[in-house]
Amino acid sequence: MKNKLKHLAIIMDGNGRWAKSRGLQRVKGHEKGAEVVRDITTFCANSDEIKTLTLYAFSTENWKRPKLEVDFLMKLLDRYLKNELEVYQKEGVKFDTIGNLEPFSKKLKDTIAKTKDATKNNSKLTQILALNYGAQDELLRAVNKACKNGNIITKKDLERYLDTPYSDIDLLIRTSGEKRLSNYLLWQIAYAELEFTDTLWPDFTPVELNKIIENFKKRERKFGGI
Ligand code: FPP
Repeated sequence: MKNKLKHLAIIMDGNGRWAKSRGLQRVKGHEKGAEVVRDITTFCANSDEIKTLTLYAFSTENWKRPKLEVDFLMKLLDRYLKNELEVYQKEGVKFDTIGNLEPFSKKLKDTIAKTKDATKNNSKLTQILALNYGAQDELLRAVNKACKNGNIITKKDLERYLDTPYSDIDLLIRTSGEKRLSNYLLWQIAYAELEFTDTLWPDFTPVELNKIIENFKKRERKFGGI
């Protein structure tokens, strides 16, 4: 029987290199990358199987980038969410986030909250943006909440306090040829299939995603059994 793909996660890497190879500023790569986010989200919303798409948009480590680039990414995110509302509604996409939103500006937090509220009844796909997200940070926050009452913590207890109440990841894709997990969803990928492509994120297309999914469907998933 072919594997079902309910939850797809992507590490969108290579925006900077894409821009550099064209003699452009790095931020132009992020701008093009945001367009690809739209194409891939629309593709997933129109697939019968995919219910959740979790995209790594800003990690807990990305604050180390030059201030100009960080500021640009924050503005791009705000602009993207405002422009995207029409697409979310048209394609039936519910918007959600994981990560600690605390350090973001009030303006961006408001835009995020409004977008979540406006799309909360959409049901074709949930698009989750990982924002100021790091798996170690998520696990630490969850453990601290879970052990407040001093009891032994079960798997269920811990999962209740993780950022994502959604199902485990079936397939994780990283673009740009890097073969690292970069602190992404370390709990939720326990049995995920991994796929690495050399394509830089701004060049990634629904056609390539479709090929990767076809390949995923043929793989044997045993979850530790035989
Ligand atoms: C990695 O490329 C990408 C990021 C750190 C940010 C991801 C952001 C986007 C795809 C665009 C904005 C997204 C939304 C949802 C509006 P990199 O800069 O590390 O590339 P490099 O490794 O080639 O330098």
